[in-house]
Amino acid sequence: MTEAVLRDMRWWDLDGVLALEHDLFPEDAWSRGMFWSELADTGHPAASRTYLVAEDGAGRLVGYAGLAAIAGTGDVQTIAAARDHWGTGLGARLLTELLRAATAAECHEVLLEVRVDNPRAQRLYERFGFAAIGVRKGYYQPGNVDALVMRLADPALNTVEEIHG
Ligand SMILES: CC(C)(COP(=O)(O)OP(=O)(O)OC[C@H]1O[C@@H](n2cnc3c(N)ncnc32)[C@H](O)[C@@H]1OP(=O)(O)O)[C@@H](O)C(=O)NCCC(=O)NCCS
Repeated sequence: MTEAVLRDMRWWDLDGVLALEHDLFPEDAWSRGMFWSELADTGHPAASRTYLVAEDGAGRLVGYAGLAAIAGTGDVQTIAAARDHWGTGLGARLLTELLRAATAAECHEVLLEVRVDNPRAQRLYERFGFAAIGVRKGYYQPGNVDALVMRLADPALNTVEEIHG
């Protein structure tokens, strides 16, 4: 399998993104409108957004990820890899790019929410140094599943480790 190429997400990627989104998040998939508003430039000087897709050698969309950086805090909004790419390091590559974007946006911390019943994603985050800091009860609806809130202090240090470690 040739290594997927990462690039910025554009509006014409949304059909491919939504197909993956519905497969991977069947209970709480984002709508097209939610992706549209994330891709729209807010124009706010203290806020920036980075949305990426991963494309394989055949031009198929096999992953995506997004970060919002607001006033020094980054938020991993979404991260996903196609099932046939799980365990190939694609999730780690996407997360590395988000942390690089957080560093460029001068974030001193990065936060995220992850379903308590998603150990695979939690392991990925722990490998990058994220630690659980709390639980949001019933965060995922309509399934009423709790979210674990995880935090990484100083994404810049972590980015350096990922490149050189
Ligand atoms: C969570 C998710 C993004 C992880 O993506 P991924 O591409 O499988 O992630 P990675 O390949 O980087 O890491 C997964 C595992 O593969 C292993 N791995 C990484 N590179 C590898 C390689 N080259 N060869 C073999 N294994 C490898 C990792 O060590 C890791 O092992 P672990 O499960 O013991 O921790 C993906 O499973 C996904 O899209 N899930 C559905 C959506 C989702 O839950 N998103 C998160 C919402 S919060």
